[in-house]
Amino acid sequence: MAYSMLSPKDVKSMRRVGRLAADTLVMVGKELRVGMTTEDINTLVHEYTLEHGARPAPLNYKGFPKSVCTSVNQVVCHGIPGPLVLKDGDIINVDVTPVLPTDPDGWHGDTSATFYIGEPSPMAKHVTEVARHCLELGISVVKPGARVGEIGAIIQDYAESKGCGVVRSFTGHGVGRIFHCEPTVNHARVLYGPNPKLKKGMCFTIEPMINVGHHAVDILDDDWTAVTRDGSLSAQFEHTLVVTADGCEVLTRRTAPLQNSEDVPWAKLGPLSCFIPEASKV
Ligand code: MF3
Ligand code: CO
Ligand code: CO
Repeated sequence: MAYSMLSPKDVKSMRRVGRLAADTLVMVGKELRVGMTTEDINTLVHEYTLEHGARPAPLNYKGFPKSVCTSVNQVVCHGIPGPLVLKDGDIINVDVTPVLPTDPDGWHGDTSATFYIGEPSPMAKHVTEVARHCLELGISVVKPGARVGEIGAIIQDYAESKGCGVVRSFTGHGVGRIFHCEPTVNHARVLYGPNPKLKKGMCFTIEPMINVGHHAVDILDDDWTAVTRDGSLSAQFEHTLVVTADGCEVLTRRTAPLQNSEDVPWAKLGPLSCFIPEASKV
């Protein structure tokens, strides 16, 4: 599998779909309520994506049955929307990937955030804010010549210093015309395997999944839903970015703060939470 290397023209296409992905998360944040179902979120994301001339990449991807992943509490990632009702104190990751144009080889913008439903427990706040900061830290080391492994190293050191586990079974990935390609972006150190140097134009995601407890995960019988093996809470944030001459550009940066996530008084906000686009270039 190849890397996703963007020309300046490709970057413009990825900015467009990245902005749409970011706007979709902002929209979701405004709509979240106690009592709504994850199916309701699927409907919101599906319709918003189509209204903006895009298609939701998750739908029918390797058999995934819905248009967005909704991962509640101990669900690590790839939660399938359905009749589950959101209740006070839940945390939920919403992971969106519009494709623009809708052709088979359209551009993918992949981004996710964890939201608070009502008043979270201290544990829920802790894991969510650690995950938020892990993404900021990962992005901060991206520049030409850096090794992809530096991303996992800085994330692992921080998460473990806060008593949290870093999920190993799912990784960031190259993204562009293809949903998932090279490089594999581990969020913790790995003992062997490729550790490529980052180059200008390389486009990939960083999407740390952080558990309150151990990093091990299990997959449920639906073959998608990943849950923490120890039942502890898990949180995740994801951005799509492209390596620039002196750092990176976050293609899925937001132009407004996320309600029910970035607007709470305890949110640990970094440069990416600033909604002035220029300031989000770390
Ligand atoms: N958006 C997820 C990611 O960050 C992938 C979801 S694949 C699906 O890579 F099929 F579950 F939607
Ligand atoms: Co991704
Ligand atoms: Co994603």
